[in-house]
Amino acid sequence: MRRISVLTSGGDASGMNAAIRAVVRTSLDNAWEVFGVRRGYAGLIAGDFIALGARDVGGIIQLGGTMLGTGRCHEFETDDGRAQALRNLRQKEIDALIVIGGDGSQHGSCLLSQTGFPVVGIASTIDNDLYGSEITIGVDTALNIALESIDRLKVTASSHRRAFLVEVMGRDCGYLALMAGITGGAEVVVIPEVEVQPEQVAKELRGAYERGKAHAIAVVAEGARYNARALSAYFQEHQERLGFELRVTTLGHVQRGGAPGAFDRLLATRFGVAAVRQVETNECGVLVGLLKGKVAATPLMDVMSNRKALDSQLFEVSRILAQ
Ligand code: F6P
Repeated sequence: MRRISVLTSGGDASGMNAAIRAVVRTSLDNAWEVFGVRRGYAGLIAGDFIALGARDVGGIIQLGGTMLGTGRCHEFETDDGRAQALRNLRQKEIDALIVIGGDGSQHGSCLLSQTGFPVVGIASTIDNDLYGSEITIGVDTALNIALESIDRLKVTASSHRRAFLVEVMGRDCGYLALMAGITGGAEVVVIPEVEVQPEQVAKELRGAYERGKAHAIAVVAEGARYNARALSAYFQEHQERLGFELRVTTLGHVQRGGAPGAFDRLLATRFGVAAVRQVETNECGVLVGLLKGKVAATPLMDVMSNRKALDSQLFEVSRILAQ
């Protein structure tokens, strides 16, 4: 019998609960014992373990957030922090750890795995910036939440013939903004990967009215040089010359709190099952993600030493479709 533990780390993403549930129930099916770690790496350092049975993960597949709690833990970046976490894992006689999280969290998994402790990561972040998975847990739900907001803003924008700017999350990655822009029918998209000047944004918004549109929407990534704050300051300063006002909506954490859709529940479930299989076959030190539509494992070292590139053709698509 093995003893396995699971934690969620970094920003919560809708579907994390589905992944926990899959890890727990697949492990139980192997007749293993499962322990959840509360509050991510902070809980690992504090030795905050909780035994999990099949009923403990009942009624959570449809819930956003994470039943285990999560956090960003700077102490785990230190040698002392990780040494304490390892002591706790050994004292509890844990054989392997599954880490559900994004970039920063998998950096932690990689460091822990380098000590020789068996770790398997599960790709989970709304930012979709993790190498080793073309889509990560939480992206689809966050995108749908952004889309719902954009659709609503379009209604009021059309009624008033107003220009709106919507800022979406994504840290340094423009994936969410670009996809929200394409699927929400934005007039212009501003992302960190492609610099667009404020004058160009103004030109695109004005152009929408000139082409007979009743609304003009710009979708902006929080990590872009000209994000909501920078653009709204520019528009205020030049309002008279530009000839129109801009209303600004920053979606922020609203995008993280939704109930996971079918896509994220299924993706998280598949990842959770696959992570346990990696432990079963002693193939740890990897990230479980989706590659070419199939669940696949990538060495954590490769995940950390590569950057996932945004498909630049899609930026062109957003421009073409904004006519
Ligand atoms: O990584 C997920 C994310 O939501 C990013 O999009 C965002 O920049 C960041 O987390 C916000 O972090 P916090 O929840 O710590 O404020």
